[in-house]
Amino acid sequence: MQSGDRSQRRTCNYTADTHPVILPARRANQMRWLKDKGNVMNEDSIKIDALGSPLELPCGLVLPNRLVKAAMSDSLGDGEGNPTEQQVRLYERWLEGGAALSIIGEVQVDPRYPEKPGNLVLDDSTSALKLQRLAGVAAGHSGHVWPQLGHAGALAHSSIRSGPKPTQVSLSESKSTPPISSRVVLPRPPTFVSPPPGGITAWYTMRLTALAEDREQSFGPTLAEAVSQYESRDAERDTAWNTKFRQ
Ligand SMILES: Cc1cc2nc3c(=O)[nH]c(=O)nc-3n(C[C@H](O)[C@H](O)[C@H](O)COP(=O)(O)O)c2cc1C
Repeated sequence: MQSGDRSQRRTCNYTADTHPVILPARRANQMRWLKDKGNVMNEDSIKIDALGSPLELPCGLVLPNRLVKAAMSDSLGDGEGNPTEQQVRLYERWLEGGAALSIIGEVQVDPRYPEKPGNLVLDDSTSALKLQRLAGVAAGHSGHVWPQLGHAGALAHSSIRSGPKPTQVSLSESKSTPPISSRVVLPRPPTFVSPPPGGITAWYTMRLTALAEDREQSFGPTLAEAVSQYESRDAERDTAWNTKFRQ
């Protein structure tokens, strides 16, 4: 979808009075923002498009709406810290969908302590051209693509961690996270019964890959299959990462 069509899709049926997450203080901020921009309509007569209304950040940047794609480690780097064309496509799709901001998860500041071998790395060896290509997907769209800076420390991916060993932290896979099904989320995400360790993360990450390759319609691995695909891809990238970064 072209950027010109997106204003249609940003419209939603909620008003500030009916949207469940719009707090009175936020509504007052919206009204102030609208008035600052010269909107002289009567407060009560304005139907505020809650998710579609702009958000001005303290730095002065104005996001065109309230849709932000949370940081997700997509594991779509090339194994040497560079972006790939799949990753470019994934972020392009989120921009096309109308998100005001998409945050790239786990962009590493030190390749000795990465979260995954598919992470991006910000250092002198990263291809500036490829980074520009990824950042450039925002051009022509009103949304933004920002990196989340990451350093996995003691939780770095063990087969590609290098440098001094940090203090080990013991974390169990079986954290008491409430089941997905107990939360009210639209659209409702899939639920999983007795997931294997790491299975849900692997499944969602492989789904990101399917989105990046425009083949989500045919995406349907079991959790065990997703884990296997995820781990074998990591193992391939381990070699590239260690060849480039291990000292
Ligand atoms: C595949 C996947 C990768 C994620 N990677 C990151 C990450 O790199 N950094 C981060 O802060 N959160 C990460 N998260 C957590 C999400 O940003 C988000 O906080 C989480 O999915 C909960 O979202 P919710 O609050 O909308 O339920 C990841 C989540 C998923 C499913």
